[in-house]
Amino acid sequence: MLEVRDVTKQFESLEVLKGVSLRVEKGDVVAILGPSGSGKTTLLRCINFLEKADQGTMVFDGEEFQMNHISKKDMARLRKKTAFVFQNYNLFQNKTALQNVTEGLVVARKVPKKEAVEIGKKALDKVGLADKYDYYPYQLSGGQQQRVAIARALATNPEIIFFDEPTSALDPELIGEVLSVMRDLANEGMTMLVVTHEIGFAKNVSSKVVFMEHGVVIEAAPTREFFDAPKTERAKSFVRSISETENQ
Ligand SMILES: Nc1ncnc2c1ncn2[C@@H]1O[C@H](COP(=O)(O)OP(=O)(O)O)[C@@H](O)[C@H]1O
Ligand SMILES: [Mg+2]
Repeated sequence: MLEVRDVTKQFESLEVLKGVSLRVEKGDVVAILGPSGSGKTTLLRCINFLEKADQGTMVFDGEEFQMNHISKKDMARLRKKTAFVFQNYNLFQNKTALQNVTEGLVVARKVPKKEAVEIGKKALDKVGLADKYDYYPYQLSGGQQQRVAIARALATNPEIIFFDEPTSALDPELIGEVLSVMRDLANEGMTMLVVTHEIGFAKNVSSKVVFMEHGVVIEAAPTREFFDAPKTERAKSFVRSISETENQ
């Protein structure tokens, strides 16, 4: 469904992505793991055209694009098929939960207000916030705010949702409620590409793991295989270190 090949990106003299390729099939939950500074966020941003890759090919639903000179029109068309959930939720502070979810539908997609409100309420119900339509972000916990952000993503009916460390800004007690919403989505067959440090989520929910370091994919494998029988020395030591942490 979505494939990128040989994506490169440099900031000044810093090569952040050195030829990254990955593939997501419909219904896949792909977990991108790797230490801070590996280029995970940059990769997601390039895939969603929030950042312009220096080079790279994208194939989306069978159509091929050059990521460094894609037209504005194609970019807008592809963005409509995707949604992005950020680490810090990126909600409008002066809008209610429901308004945050409907805003993009009404403004960018020209959905009639009444219909947008119906879709928005349904999306908020789905993430367990049926009683919070009229709450402002400051009246919600971090976990609730991130669930609003997930509802906003769902409301656009995307083919794939990108998540960039969706729980890393949350207090430990609030992580579970967000992961549980994501797990439900995965079980319903939503296609997701998730940068995460939540190893439990990667192990139990993802179908594939892409392990990155220093701007390259060190290893990409089905989840079981990655954790049970990593092939590269680097992935072996990563898996060993997390299992030591788990046993502490
Ligand atoms: N806009 C930017 N300008 C300059 N350097 C950047 C920019 N964005 C990211 N970087 C650098 O690129 C490297 C990879 O960053 P990032 O993609 O955020 O990694 P990760 O998400 O894996 O932690 C880091 O060294 C970071 O400082
Ligand atoms: Mg990051």
